[in-house]
Amino acid sequence: MSSDNSVGAIHRPSLRRKAARFFGQFGVFFRGFLEEPKMVGSIIPSSRFTIAKMLAPVKWDECKVFVEYGPGVGTFCQPVLDRLPRDGMLIVIDTNPLYIDYLKKHFRDSRFHAVHGSAANVEDIVKAHGADHADYVLSGLPFSTLPDGVGPAIAEATYRIIRPGGAFLVYQFSAKARDYMARHFERIESGFEPLNVLPCQLFWGWKEPKG
Ligand SMILES: C[S@@+](CC[C@H](N)C(=O)[O-])C[C@H]1O[C@@H](n2cnc3c(N)ncnc32)[C@H](O)[C@@H]1O
Repeated sequence: MSSDNSVGAIHRPSLRRKAARFFGQFGVFFRGFLEEPKMVGSIIPSSRFTIAKMLAPVKWDECKVFVEYGPGVGTFCQPVLDRLPRDGMLIVIDTNPLYIDYLKKHFRDSRFHAVHGSAANVEDIVKAHGADHADYVLSGLPFSTLPDGVGPAIAEATYRIIRPGGAFLVYQFSAKARDYMARHFERIESGFEPLNVLPCQLFWGWKEPKG
């Protein structure tokens, strides 16, 4: 081997490592999009503006069980863990095993539980974690491109698992999810976040306390 080649051999892996670190999270997200474009529905994760606006109405001191559908590479996970009480639990559910493997490697917090499965099975998943309800459920699911019947089934199961006084938090590029939410949730608030690729609609569906 010539000395030029050995220099190259020393430098190339280190550049690759740097690039991998830089593009790691986005790279994994984009790979998931290429494999399942309709299930992922976006080429890059949500912006910090969307995260802050979406989570703002949550009453964290009353939140013990927070569920997230479609966490992808975990864009919302650390912000949720930063706000969640110490005895709280964050259960994230995604159909893509690539994302679940990534999350299990990158989030070591004992309150964090990553489940490979469908949001449609949220009731069984929450119960399997020892809880009988969720305080809040957050969704980044692309409702408008999910297979027929899946969106309405998820909205219905979500209403059943949320406790009275809790909420279903949904962000989406279209308003499709709102139609499904309106069949169950007594009160829906809406918002809009322009600083996101693409700009997105935000909905908070509140399950009113009984009486
Ligand atoms: C637009 S990505 C959201 C990514 C991330 N939450 C963000 O804000 O950057 C949609 C995610 O929903 C997941 N997904 C699609 N259908 C699902 C289902 N039925 N149950 C759970 N996750 C699902 C996809 O695998 C993908 O991770």
